[in-house]
Amino acid sequence: MKLPLIPGNPRINVPEEKTFHMSPDDFRRHGHVLVDWIADYYAHIESFPVLSRAEPGRIRASLPPHAPATGEPFNTMLHDVEKLILPGITHWQSPNFYAFFPCNSSGPAILGDLLSSGLGVQGMLWATSPACTELETHVLDWLVHMLALPEKFLSSNTGGGVIQDTASSASLCALVAGRERATNFASNQKGCDGRLVAYTSAQAHSSIEKAAKIAGLGRDNLRLIEVDKNFAMRPDILARQIEEDRRAGLLPCFVCATVGTTSSNALDPVPEIGRICRERGIWFHVDAAMSGTAALCPEFRHIHDGLDYADSYCFNPHKWMFTNFDCDCFYLADRKALIQTLSVLPEYLRNQATESGAVIDYRDWQIPLGRRFRALKLWFVIRHYGVEGLQHHIRRHVELAQKFAGWIIKDDRFELASPAPLNLVCFRHKGGDAVNQSLMNRLNAGGDLYLTHTKLNDKFTIRLCVGQTNTTERHVERAWQRIQEEAARLDNSARNTA
Ligand SMILES: Cc1ncc(COP(=O)(O)O)c(C=O)c1O
Repeated sequence: MKLPLIPGNPRINVPEEKTFHMSPDDFRRHGHVLVDWIADYYAHIESFPVLSRAEPGRIRASLPPHAPATGEPFNTMLHDVEKLILPGITHWQSPNFYAFFPCNSSGPAILGDLLSSGLGVQGMLWATSPACTELETHVLDWLVHMLALPEKFLSSNTGGGVIQDTASSASLCALVAGRERATNFASNQKGCDGRLVAYTSAQAHSSIEKAAKIAGLGRDNLRLIEVDKNFAMRPDILARQIEEDRRAGLLPCFVCATVGTTSSNALDPVPEIGRICRERGIWFHVDAAMSGTAALCPEFRHIHDGLDYADSYCFNPHKWMFTNFDCDCFYLADRKALIQTLSVLPEYLRNQATESGAVIDYRDWQIPLGRRFRALKLWFVIRHYGVEGLQHHIRRHVELAQKFAGWIIKDDRFELASPAPLNLVCFRHKGGDAVNQSLMNRLNAGGDLYLTHTKLNDKFTIRLCVGQTNTTERHVERAWQRIQEEAARLDNSARNTA
């Protein structure tokens, strides 16, 4: 399909001038080859070992020590991608990828990202590309409805959403806003005085600790609250710790609850934690990095119970919503608190639209100044799948994970290590840490699936997360078959050495 890009205008022919740039015609030619290459990659992705087998330093050793003095043909580069780069790729988009949390992708997302690169806009201000800002605001409002988030997160209300690169950045922004609200914006002015304290659970993501360090609170002023037997934060201990800190003259400024912890997908009791924060005027952030996407389906929306108490919330379409990295949706109940925290307006950024107060300048909602047009890929994904399509695939992932959990329960050699509320199953062989470590290593070395581990109650625990875009029943069945085969081999060799 040819689009009438500039209707009626002929191509501009400029006089020939020496250039090293790629011409639009060459770009078109190479671009077609590259898109074909990516499509072929997806068609053959299952033929690669999921976890790269590259030894440390091997990829660098295969590259020339110095940059080329003269330009090289595009085909040579693509050839080198196959020969030198592919062996160093861990195939996150393989349907046999069950490690960490997914970082999934899809055709419409890749094309949206390509278009964003093609347009090449930098949307730091509304004025630097109005569509970049307005599409983002609009799509993030759509998501409020799609996930049934509280209405206060709508841009038409007191809050609004913004796309951050990652959940780590979203949590950092939330923490600095909480810090400023608690000190009436004095810490922005004079720095932190060592009295500010933040709280999260002992199972929260490491990004919260990083945020406490970056925001100047200091690691010692982040309280890691004990969890219950399901690895969820204990609100009674949180409340007690806050009171103790207050009595000691400290200033509690931020609490982060997790909806779907990284280790075990634990769901912190958001309503109870929220009430504690509301009563004490403490900024309450909810990190639903992967699991938030589940709320697309009404039957999983209970994970967001209590979100009405939240000052901020984030989830990552780049984990489970088929939108390639990077894309974190960050919502605020009161945008003014964040804008006042982050806004700095030098003369060279002043413009009429900003002065009018009628527009959003997202530079004030994030740490960096510049920003990519990320909303395009999210818009493409939502329009391609529709709500129905997204719900279908999320439901299917949860169903497959639950099936896998059922197989674990039925097999006497294995046990579940934690509840599996959604798409992550934490399990272990009853033979102990060494057996589980070898089981996982053997499976990963085999190349036909990739699993990672955690420790729960100090025991080595294998995690299997179903969330890659193209994972289907046959893949999960095969994973279970491979786990059983390797477990049988380990059992046999243990018997032979006994
Ligand atoms: C609960 C949780 N929060 C935050 C993060 C960090 O995500 P990001 O890479 O977007 O910063 C993760 C990553 O897995 C996570 O599981």
